[in-house]
Amino acid sequence: MTDPTHKPRTPRSTEAVVADLMMPHQANGLRQASVFGGIIMSMVDRCAALSAMRHASGQVTTLSIDRILFKEPIRVGELVEVRSRVVRVGRTSMSVLANVYAEHIATSVRRHTNECWLTFVHLDEQGKPAPVPPLLLETDEDREMNDVANRRREQLLSDLS
Ligand SMILES: CC(C)(COP(=O)(O)OP(=O)(O)OC[C@H]1O[C@@H](n2cnc3c(N)ncnc32)[C@H](O)[C@@H]1OP(=O)(O)O)[C@@H](O)C(=O)NCCC(=O)NCCS
Repeated sequence: MTDPTHKPRTPRSTEAVVADLMMPHQANGLRQASVFGGIIMSMVDRCAALSAMRHASGQVTTLSIDRILFKEPIRVGELVEVRSRVVRVGRTSMSVLANVYAEHIATSVRRHTNECWLTFVHLDEQGKPAPVPPLLLETDEDREMNDVANRRREQLLSDLS
């Protein structure tokens, strides 16, 4: 189903959260075991897809996961929380910013561990790219993130040409 109203939506209204407690089977094989990077990437993709689906009110597909940098390890036993929102829209595409946090439950210490930019395309019932509603930028932060997303997209497109 696509949204026939095409009402503008704010980034805040597209916010999605995916959280999970990291278990031993999600660890990599290192001696100082940390969580396997693919687990975090999967959570980021699912969370960002939810934001894009909220914006489009319909089905979406991942076009790109632009960059994910693992600056510090996430340990088994930590609570991982991904938060995402749509920050830019084109005709059929949406840029989503996802932030990853890891929380050590016993100490309540929460770290921002990753930032990731993704692009989704809204698909109609035939699986063809379909228009998305406009994005209503309501805060300075919305406008700042929108500028960053526009610059990143221009850079991506010029790298391809
Ligand atoms: C996503 C997909 C449907 C787009 O198909 P397409 O033929 O490129 O469609 P279009 O040319 O109409 O482009 C759709 C949008 O994607 C954007 N786009 C396409 N290729 C792009 C690229 N290389 N970089 C940035 N944006 C791109 C277009 O600019 C357009 O955005 P806009 O409407 O906001 O301007 C197609 O590439 C696909 O099915 N990919 C596989 C997706 C998938 O399976 N993902 C899961 C991982 S396996």
